[in-house]
Amino acid sequence: MANIKKNRLKDEVAFRRFLPLVSITLLGVFLLMFLLRINSNFATPFSDDFSQVLTNRSHAKQMLSLPKQTEFSLQLEKRNQMPPRNLDLYPSLDEDHITIVLYVHNRPQYLKVAVDSLSRVVGINGTLLIVSHDGYFEEMNKIVEGIRFCQVKQIFAPYSPHVYPNSFPGVSPTDCKEKDDATKKHCKGTPDQYGNHRSPKIVSLKHHWWWMMNTVWDGLKETKDHSGHILFIEEDHYIYPNAYRNLQILTELKPQKCPHCYAANLAPCDVNARGEGWDSLIAERMGNVGYTFNRTVWRKIHKKTTEFCFFDDYNWDITMWATVYPSFGNPVFTLRGPNKCSTLWKMWFAPGPGGGKKHASITVW
Ligand SMILES: *[C@@H]1O[C@H](CO)[C@@H](O)[C@H](O)[C@H]1NC(C)=O
Ligand SMILES: *[C@@H]1O[C@H](CO)[C@@H](O)[C@H](O)[C@H]1NC(C)=O
Ligand SMILES: *[C@@H]1O[C@H](CO)[C@@H](O)[C@H](O)[C@H]1NC(C)=O
Repeated sequence: MANIKKNRLKDEVAFRRFLPLVSITLLGVFLLMFLLRINSNFATPFSDDFSQVLTNRSHAKQMLSLPKQTEFSLQLEKRNQMPPRNLDLYPSLDEDHITIVLYVHNRPQYLKVAVDSLSRVVGINGTLLIVSHDGYFEEMNKIVEGIRFCQVKQIFAPYSPHVYPNSFPGVSPTDCKEKDDATKKHCKGTPDQYGNHRSPKIVSLKHHWWWMMNTVWDGLKETKDHSGHILFIEEDHYIYPNAYRNLQILTELKPQKCPHCYAANLAPCDVNARGEGWDSLIAERMGNVGYTFNRTVWRKIHKKTTEFCFFDDYNWDITMWATVYPSFGNPVFTLRGPNKCSTLWKMWFAPGPGGGKKHASITVW
C-alpha cells in the first residue's frame, strides 16, 4: 500500500514536471481563433447565448474555424447523435434521476471493473449513463456496448488528438517535441515559458473534460433540458451499490443542510480527512472525484470560459481551483455523506509477479 502510494506520488511528481508543457491549450487556440474572428470584447466573449449558437453546429464550426475534419471524426460526430441504447429495456427515466457521465480514455482493465460495479448500483436502471470517450478504442467500445443495465449513450470527442494520428490536433510529423530547439531541429512549434512544446496526449485530458461538460449540459438533446443534477465519474472509479441512492438523498438535503454547497459528492476513502466517522453530513472543499452538480452551477462555470481556457495548466481540476472557483466569491463547498468509505473508491491495479497484467490484483485506495 505504502509502495503504491509512493509510486503514485512519483508518477504525480513526474506528471507535474510536464506542467509547463501546455502554455496555450488547444482549446485556448480555438478560443483565440474565435475571438480574433468575431473581434469581440475580449473580457466577456461568451455570453450564455453562446451555447445557443453552438447548437447550430455548422454555424459554430464556421465561427471557430476548426481544423478540417477527417472522415473518421465526422463518423464519430454522427454517432454522437444516435439515441441511447437499451431504450427497449428501459423506455423511461425516473422523474428524479441523476444523469451519470463516465469519462474515459483507454484503460479497458479499469473500465471493465467500473462498469461491473455500476451494474450493481441500486437505481441505475432508472437513469441515463453517458460514456464520454477521449479517442476511439475498440476494447473500450466493446465494454460499453455490452452494457444492459440502463439506458446508455456513447459520445466521442470529435477533435480528440487520439482521433488525428498524424495531424493537428494530434501530432504532425513536423511538430517540435519536448524541449526541441525549433531552428536546430527544423520543427514547428512555440514553446511555453519553460521551453516545452505542446504534448497533445497530455493537454487532451483538460480539453476532453471541457468538451464533455459543454456537450452534456448544452449540446445533447437527451440532456440539454435536464433540470436535475449530473454525476461525473471516471474509468478508474469503483462505485458501491448504495452510491446512487445516497447521492439522491444528498442532493435533496443540500438546500436545507448546506445551502452554500455547490455540489454533492461521492468522495473516496481518505483516512487523513477530519470528521471521519462523524454521524452527520460533511461539507468539504470541492474535489475532483464523484462530483455532482446542477445546471445553475454549470452556468456559473461556463461564464468563466476565458479564464478556464487561458489558464496555463493542463489539469482541469487545478484550473478550476485556480481560476473558476475563486471567481465565485465564496468558498466552494461540496456535501457528502457520513460513511465516507462506502460509496466510491479509486482503483489501482498493482502489477502481478513479473509485472504482467494477467496477474494484476486490484487495490482500492
Ligand atoms: C445554422 O448556421 C448556418 C450557417 O451560418 C445557417 O446557414 C443556417 O441557416 C443556420 N441554421 C439554423 C437552424 O439556424
Ligand atoms: C429497476 O431495478 C429494481 C431493483 O433494483 C426493480 O425493482 C425495478 O423494477 C427495475 N426497474 C426497471 C424499469 O427495470
Ligand atoms: C442548483 O444548485 C445550486 C447550488 O446548490 C442552488 O443554489 C440552485 O438553486 C440549484 N438550482 C436548481 C435549479 O435547483
